[in-house]
Parts: sequence; C-alpha cells; structure tokens
Amino acid sequence: MGKILGLKCRETGRKYEKKPIHVCEMSFAPLEVDYNYEKIKKTISRKSIENGPLSMWRYADLLPLDGEPVTGLNTGFTPLIRARNLAEALGTKEIYIKDDTVCRPTLSFKDRVVSIATSKAVEFGFDTVSCASTGNLANSVSAHAAIAKLDCFIFIPADLETGKVVGTSVYNPVVVGINGNYDQVNRLCSEISDVYKWAFANINIRPFYAEGSKTLYFEVVEQLGWQPPDHIIAPAAGGSLVTKMAKARREFEMMDLIEDGSHTKIHVAQADGCAPIVNALKEGSTFFKPVKPNTIAKSLAIGNPADGIYAIETVKESGGYGESASDDEIIDAMKLLASTEGIFTETAGGVTLAATKKLIESGKIGRDESIVVLITGNGMKTIEAFNGQLNKPHVIDPRLRSFTQLMEAI
Ligand SMILES: Cc1ncc(COP(=O)(O)O)c(C=O)c1O
Repeated sequence: MGKILGLKCRETGRKYEKKPIHVCEMSFAPLEVDYNYEKIKKTISRKSIENGPLSMWRYADLLPLDGEPVTGLNTGFTPLIRARNLAEALGTKEIYIKDDTVCRPTLSFKDRVVSIATSKAVEFGFDTVSCASTGNLANSVSAHAAIAKLDCFIFIPADLETGKVVGTSVYNPVVVGINGNYDQVNRLCSEISDVYKWAFANINIRPFYAEGSKTLYFEVVEQLGWQPPDHIIAPAAGGSLVTKMAKARREFEMMDLIEDGSHTKIHVAQADGCAPIVNALKEGSTFFKPVKPNTIAKSLAIGNPADGIYAIETVKESGGYGESASDDEIIDAMKLLASTEGIFTETAGGVTLAATKKLIESGKIGRDESIVVLITGNGMKTIEAFNGQLNKPHVIDPRLRSFTQLMEAI
C-alpha cells in the first residue's frame, strides 16, 4: 500500500478512491487527501527532510504525488526573513516575512499548489489543464502547462490587472476573459468541467492541489529551527491556504517533527471590500454571508469562498482572529514593507500586513510573541495600485548644471 489511501469527505469521513473528484456525493462537502500516516511516519524525520532538495519537494512524503513531480522542481523553500526594521516600525520584538514574492516560476505561492495540480493531472492522464483564477493561479497554471507540454485554458474576470494578464498570456494558453467577477467565472468553470474532461486545478483536482499550501507552514517551522511560530497571518480568497496551515501543523505534530501541544494561532486577512470570512469571525458566526467584491486586492476578491466555513473553523480552533483592511491601508502597508524591508508585495501582501498591524495594535497579537506574515505575491504584478500614489521621477537634461539645479530645488 502506498502513502496515499485515497480521498476522504471532510464532513462524513466517507472514503473514495484516488481520482479527479472534489465533492462527496452524499454530503456535497469537499474531499481531502487521506494519507497513510503510519507508513509515512516510519521514514520521515527532520534529518530526511533536511537532506532533501531545496524546494517544496523536501516535504514530498506529506504531498499527494505517486511518482516524481514533473514541474515546479525549483518551487518553494523561499526565504523567511527576520524583519528587524518592520519590527521597529510596528513596535514588536520578533516578526518574520515569509517571502513568496520570489516563489518560482511565477512569483506567488500559487506555484506551490499548481506544482502538485500539474503533476497530478499528468498522473491521471489528462492532456489539458485549466482553472478559474483571480490572477496568480492563471499565471502559474499557464507556466506549468508550458513546462509539462499540456494544453491550457485559463478563465479570468476580464478586468484583471495588466501584470496578471500579460503574466498569463506570455506562456501562450487560451485565455478567456469573462465579463463578471471571480464567483461568476468559477460557476461557469464548474459547468464547463462537466462537459470538457480537463484537469481544473481548483475544481476536480482541488483536493490534491490544495495540499501544496501546507509547504508554506512546513518551511516556516523548519526555518525557525523546528519551532512553530506563536502567530501566523494568512490572506484568504477561497480560504484554502488558511485551512492548510492547520493541517500542516497537525501533520508535523503527528510525525513527531514538532512537540505535542506546540501551538500557532492562525489569523486571517481580507480586504474590507471582500471580507466574508473576516466578517463572520467578527460576528462570531460559523457561517459566512457571500459578498460582492470591490477592492484593489483583486487576487483576494472571492465573495463566495469555497473553503470559507473551514477557514472560519480553523481560525477559531487555533485561537486566532480575522482582520480586514481598506484600499488606503493596503497601499500604506505595501509602502511600509517596501520601505522597511525592501520587499515589493502585490496588493494581497498589503492586505496581510495591514491586518497584522491592526491585530498587533488591538492586542490580539502580543508584541513579545513570534509573528510570521505570509507575503504571497509579487508587487510587479499589481503596479496599477500605485497609480497617482508615488512620487514621479525628476526628469532633467543630461547636464551637470541641470542636476545641480535639481539638488537646489529638492
Ligand atoms: C497572492 C495570493 N495570496 C493568497 C491567496 C489566497 O488563497 P486561497 O484561495 O487559498 O485563500 C491568493 C488566491 O488567489 C493569492 O493570489
């Protein structure tokens, strides 16, 4: 028997064989990968991981591939940066940036999930990959499809940022812009997936795809010397990343890689203009009310998050909170991260840092505790956010006199 037993319903525990399906036919709840942990425990250790490749594949024992990965060989193991200047600015002792602005190949954490989805699509024998995307997933699926020589169809809201569209089209997939928001794109893709037998990263391959997010937490813990941080702040769109932080922690505990009872509070960050999960947490509800998104953080603009209720449950169980940020606060946080740590994040990272700042100010995160902020995408993808927000370059003639005049004027 291999390390993967099959799929399992999150609600009823009903078991399914390993195949490209994502909901339980009895409960309609999502399916999750069911691992043979007893078998994995016999071989995994801190040493076996440390001897692995400098990529997310050092955790391959806890990822759902049967064979070797076909793409994303350099994905993951991004820097965890001790952010001393930022700590000073926020009045905290120990804050770290998990820097997925440099995740390869497409500069966001989505490469982690897509590395799994693409390899899984190949294992299942698909010749076409596809996705509904708020931008980063589109970039990543297109790049990985190019590497794996698969056909590729991408569905996005027609009004995405230029960086996200160009960063998709350059890999030459078929890109379809939909006149509508992500939730409408996603609904359409569900219908398309009933007709076209493609591997949709976040539909029929979703149980496998979602497992890639765990590697963010695995890396953070290893990079902190096998010590879980007191707090982790994660952005949420569909809510999958948040839930996988808790699964990753549980698995490391089960595998005896961290101490029993070691704890991390998981906090969730969303934009004011699209905060169904955070609103529910603030109202003390276990359900969320879908919203119509209106925010500059387009990559997080999912008003009806597929894993919303599980994200709420995860945050509550961990003792964490939720916080949201206005467009102005998002821009300020992007500038703060750039000016303190030299890291240029996309709007999603602005959301996460702005929420972190609020959680510290409200005392939900202690100033003496260890804090990890997940910065999940690169700022070059969302430069529109800074329209009219930054000083323009000084333009002068190529003469020393012109420069001297400029120096006198500024
Ligand atoms: C940069 C970035 N961060 C975070 C997320 C949230 O991921 P999830 O849908 O798993 O909540 C996304 C989703 O598209 C994203 O693009």
